[in-house]
Amino acid sequence: MKRIALTLAALTVLLAAAPAHAGDAMSASIRNCTWCHGTSAQGYTVAPRLAGQQARYLETQLYGFATHRRDNPASKQYMWNATAALKDSTIRDLADYFAALPPRPANDGHRDLAGRGQAIYSQGIPEANVAACLACHGPNAQGIRDIPRLGGLSYSYLKQRLEQWNQGYHGAVPSPMPVVARSLSADEVEALASYLSFVR
Ligand code: HEC
Ligand code: HEC
Repeated sequence: MKRIALTLAALTVLLAAAPAHAGDAMSASIRNCTWCHGTSAQGYTVAPRLAGQQARYLETQLYGFATHRRDNPASKQYMWNATAALKDSTIRDLADYFAALPPRPANDGHRDLAGRGQAIYSQGIPEANVAACLACHGPNAQGIRDIPRLGGLSYSYLKQRLEQWNQGYHGAVPSPMPVVARSLSADEVEALASYLSFVR
């Protein structure tokens, strides 16, 4: 009897953690995702933070993985499988669910590079034809619709994404990012990734 009571208590906690409208399939999917992306989806090792990301961006990326368009090595290794069996309605619900969670900044970049990163973020590099990131990602790096929030993502994830656009991989959708990233030096990538990791 004691054992049953305990199991029920555990179950109640699990169900309470899921949003009210979520069915069993939905909470199973969420658990599958947070297994890699961290409890409360703040990111964990190579898996980026999902909490507070723009819902439409999350949705676009999930379709990109499911159709194998987003094809860098980490996407292939981790996300192609994770999205293989998701229904359209589940993709939409997962995107809305993670977008509504409060994001925490990773704060893991190099402090001494953040100033340089902030200058590039807000002004671009006119002499190298690099557009200001702010023009698309917003004044507080919060993103909009299918343009992602960058503020507070981890240094290593941001750095890797900025490097990979120059390595011939494809994004979920055609975007300006290959052109933007092509003109950035390794130092500039590190400065941008550092700055953005501290933005809240
Ligand atoms: C086995 C580990 C693993 C599982 C399970 C997993 N992910 Fe991921 N996810 C990753 C990794 C690693 C990346 C980074 C891929 C890359 O660098 O391109 C990622 C990337 C993503 C991205 C792109 C984020 C961005 O900022 O572009 C989204 C969205 C995402 N995952 C959502 C989910 C959802 C929703 C689930 C559950 C259905 C899930 N993931 C399950 C490991 C995982
Ligand atoms: C003209 C608009 C535009 C400009 C300017 C721009 N971006 Fe982007 N960026 C996008 C779009 C659109 C995406 C989503 C691409 C996709 O879905 O594959 C994106 C995606 C990204 C991502 C991937 C985030 C993730 O969660 O995986 C990073 C990192 C990024 N941009 C950094 C930058 C930086 C740094 C700059 C400035 C040097 C910049 N962007 C300038 C439009 C822009």
